[in-house]
Amino acid sequence: MSEGAAKKEEKPRKFQAIRGTRDLLPPETVLWNRVERTAHEIFATFGFGEIRLPVFEPTELFARAVGGETDIVSKEMYTFEDHEFKDLAAFRTTLISKQPWIEDKKFFHAYEIQVAEFREVLSNSMSRGLIPKTPENLRVAEDLGHALDIIAGSREQYTQEGKQEYLERFNLFVGQVRQYLIAVTLGDEVSLRPEATASVCRAYIEHGMQQLPQPVKLYYMGPMFRRERPQKGRYRQFYQIGAEVLDRVRPADTILRDVAKELRRDAVIDAEVIEMLMTFFGKCGLQGTTLYINSIGHNAPNCRRGYVEKLRAELTKIKDKLGPDSQRRIDTNPLRVLDSKLESEQPYIEKLPRIADHLCEDCATHYSAVKHQLEMRGVIYRENWRLVRGLDYYMRTTFEITAQGLGSQNAVCGGGRYDGLVELLGGSPTKGIGFAIGEDRLILSLQEIEKRNRESGVHSPLSTLHSPPLYIAWMGERAYATAIRAAKDLRKAGFSVELPPVEQKFGIALGRAVQLGAQYVLILGDNEVTSGEWTLKTLADGTQQKLTEPQLLDFLRKL
Ligand code: HAM
Repeated sequence: MSEGAAKKEEKPRKFQAIRGTRDLLPPETVLWNRVERTAHEIFATFGFGEIRLPVFEPTELFARAVGGETDIVSKEMYTFEDHEFKDLAAFRTTLISKQPWIEDKKFFHAYEIQVAEFREVLSNSMSRGLIPKTPENLRVAEDLGHALDIIAGSREQYTQEGKQEYLERFNLFVGQVRQYLIAVTLGDEVSLRPEATASVCRAYIEHGMQQLPQPVKLYYMGPMFRRERPQKGRYRQFYQIGAEVLDRVRPADTILRDVAKELRRDAVIDAEVIEMLMTFFGKCGLQGTTLYINSIGHNAPNCRRGYVEKLRAELTKIKDKLGPDSQRRIDTNPLRVLDSKLESEQPYIEKLPRIADHLCEDCATHYSAVKHQLEMRGVIYRENWRLVRGLDYYMRTTFEITAQGLGSQNAVCGGGRYDGLVELLGGSPTKGIGFAIGEDRLILSLQEIEKRNRESGVHSPLSTLHSPPLYIAWMGERAYATAIRAAKDLRKAGFSVELPPVEQKFGIALGRAVQLGAQYVLILGDNEVTSGEWTLKTLADGTQQKLTEPQLLDFLRKL
């Protein structure tokens, strides 16, 4: 069989969306769009402006902001080296996998030349600014030459004197070369964003938003990426709608601090952000939500740090009653034990000391003020002392919202306060609070509500989402010209129109209209074109009426 024929026989690979990612299709996307439009509208009424952020950022940004030890950063990020040196990267991989043997002169010689060649390209590219001149890269370029000299020297001496120490030195430096090669970064290490708060803070600093009237209120929407185990409501590419309020601390405020006023201002901002969120959910028609709030204090010995020590001591006492994850967390992050869903641990966790009893005076005042401000706004909340959240940047207020119909992944939104994060990323002292809604979960919950409503015959605002098209059944070339013009006018007026590309028998046209969910069919034939009176058929009862174009528009607008 010829190569060409073999290729033809070979079945083309069927591609599928990568695990944890999915396509969003119509008509579901109508709901996505409506939710997003609602967010634009509601957030604008609270004075928020939209920010559009890159989908990838330096890995270091997330490590610093979210925390290097968190699950998100340590296990779940999609990270890659961003460079244009494919060949050099492959060359490096080959060199790393090579294991030269001291007795094999020919092989070793080739190895030596190749490593020297790699070093040459690395140095040249760094001086031309193509590969980053990081301290590590500069050191590697220098050390590689040095290591090669030692390797060559050891080999010579071993060949002449056969001493074990030369062999050991040779092997040691071959291993060293491998480590140097691994340490080289050919480009910046970047990651697909697992969340957007870090990016918003980066942008706030980068664009000098500290100079704008404060607080700066921003919102965003778009895909995030986390390599989690996919299940209902949990994806590797998922979508968030989030908002952040950033509030620079003016130097004057730090000198003449009016702590009470400051705490109140922060509490008002927290409550308003939460109020906006609940208004948005209400407008979307989300039902059965519960807002949980907590305060995790601030990182000081008389506040959270003191509490964490106490918690660690208590957890150590009951270590053997806990599962392996919680046991590990006693050392790494005892607060996260409170997050545990493991059934057997629950009775023990419930008896642990609670952070509310260990907050410093300022944090306690702030927390009471937040609750008071929520009550003033009629926002119903439940306190949950175990709500600690899995990202490192939080302090004081934390909150989460659960919704119905989501199974175990029922958190539809999470957020909290993060004073100090902007500073941690190189900006001046700034306070921050924000949230991110899991849009996939919000949609799932809305669909559940819609399903339930449909089953019980309740009219839901979501069921009118998809406006049914008006189907134009045209007969003859003259009518087709009128149909094109009619479609144009109707679409301009905002109606959805289906204009078949070829003439259809009337019965077929009607069948197709029903298939597409149309409620009306506009019939255009020679008679209609001549008289200027068009026929509109109502599919539900089969009645027909004659209308001029303005009358038709009027009729449709009143529906
Ligand atoms: P987060 O709790 O990591 O917070 O995520 C917020 C929401 O995103 C979650 O409540 C959930 O609805 C959704 N979500 C998270 N992971 C997935 C996933 N794998 N699949 C589907 N949905 C998911 C943050 O991201 C913070 N940046 C929120 C924030 C903003 N805090 C202050 N400002």
